[in-house]
Amino acid sequence: MKRITILGATGSIGQSTLEIAALHPERYRLFALTANYSHEKMEALCRRFEPRFAVMSNPDSALRLRQAIAGLPTEVLSGEEGLMQVAAADEVDVVVAAIVGAVGLMPTLAAVRSGKRVLLANKESLVMAGSLFMEEVGRHGAQLLPIDSEHNAIFQCLPADSIGSDLADKGLRKIVLTASGGPFRDLDIQALADVTPEQACAHPNWDMGLKISVDSATMMNKGLELIEACWLFAVDHDDVEILLHRQSIVHSLVSYNDGSVIAQMGNPDMRTPIANALAWPERIESGVEPLNLLQIGRLDFTPADETRYPCLALARQAWRQGGNSMAVLNAANEIAVEHFLDRRMRFTEISNLITEVMERTASGPADDLAAIFDADAAARRLARELVKVRA
Ligand SMILES: NC(=O)c1ccc[n+]([C@@H]2O[C@H](COP(=O)([O-])OP(=O)(O)OC[C@H]3O[C@@H](n4cnc5c(N)ncnc54)[C@H](OP(=O)(O)O)[C@@H]3O)[C@@H](O)[C@H]2O)c1
Repeated sequence: MKRITILGATGSIGQSTLEIAALHPERYRLFALTANYSHEKMEALCRRFEPRFAVMSNPDSALRLRQAIAGLPTEVLSGEEGLMQVAAADEVDVVVAAIVGAVGLMPTLAAVRSGKRVLLANKESLVMAGSLFMEEVGRHGAQLLPIDSEHNAIFQCLPADSIGSDLADKGLRKIVLTASGGPFRDLDIQALADVTPEQACAHPNWDMGLKISVDSATMMNKGLELIEACWLFAVDHDDVEILLHRQSIVHSLVSYNDGSVIAQMGNPDMRTPIANALAWPERIESGVEPLNLLQIGRLDFTPADETRYPCLALARQAWRQGGNSMAVLNAANEIAVEHFLDRRMRFTEISNLITEVMERTASGPADDLAAIFDADAAARRLARELVKVRA
């Protein structure tokens, strides 16, 4: 019986994880579930799963939840202390890191530092603090397993001990990340300035949270994934090719120097990578429909166009610059996406704002958390000021 903490249980990844846990009550028990504001969703989850702890980051939401579930065996905690406590608790075997954004870094690191099996969805924490994060994984003997579908695919196509190890002597030629291209892949580039948040969040193949949906539309998501792949698999950005694959059936590929290319395929459903990482090295039922290749009929691959998707080039640039540039890229993107979702900024201004924040920020080291959080905070401040000036 493995005891699980899900950081971000009310989100899209959290829900998919809960569905798999519910399929295997003999294997998995929910130790703790966390959210920010969604106390009503959390109340329903507490009634269904009766976790030992429920954490609401927002104190008012914690109060409401406490009143709503009085009488249940679940204890309600709040704030970052609550997150850290349930990520690091001795009783926990597996932590699913599925909070969205930079705020996921500290609880995910707490899980890493407690030597847990960490199922990583929160790519932003690796993007902003990759070097330190991977060092901590090694130092504390944590088992890091990616559940981003592309990275889980790559993980499945590589030898078993590949996370953080040198792949050059394992015959690796390159990694190919696939990308659907998002909802605007066929839209006239001129029309991008007028797209709405609803259109941006209507992804053709995946059902996801709002922030990652916008990131998929700009392809910053693929840029963040490029950086995530570089940290996870210890490769350089030149070793990672990005291809558009509109069907989202091939989740990524690994090319070897003997000419072999190994791909992982499946229906676009996050329950597959989550089940893979939960049970690894075993395989368990995920509830996902088997792939019907005859029905799909064809698989298309085309180059990713950086004119249509300028965020891709920004992510490569941030990786090349190194140090705090990736934290700056991530922070500026989070502010830009927030403003776009609130209709205070056009879709096409997202990449412009990130470019400007990166240009105006001096590169610096990202050796410790203080430097990383300083860079993050400064980039957020600058991005907000620039938005005000433009308004
Ligand atoms: N969705 C996917 O298919 C997918 C695929 C690959 C990777 N990912 C990655 O997985 C992560 C989660 O994505 P998602 O789509 O599941 O996001 P989501 O649906 O927006 O859910 C986010 C979760 O994080 C919680 N949260 C948000 N802000 C918080 C804060 N300030 N403090 C504490 N908790 C907070 C939310 O709680 P409330 O409900 O209370 O707001 C919710 O439980 C992201 O890093 C994303 O890039 C997602």
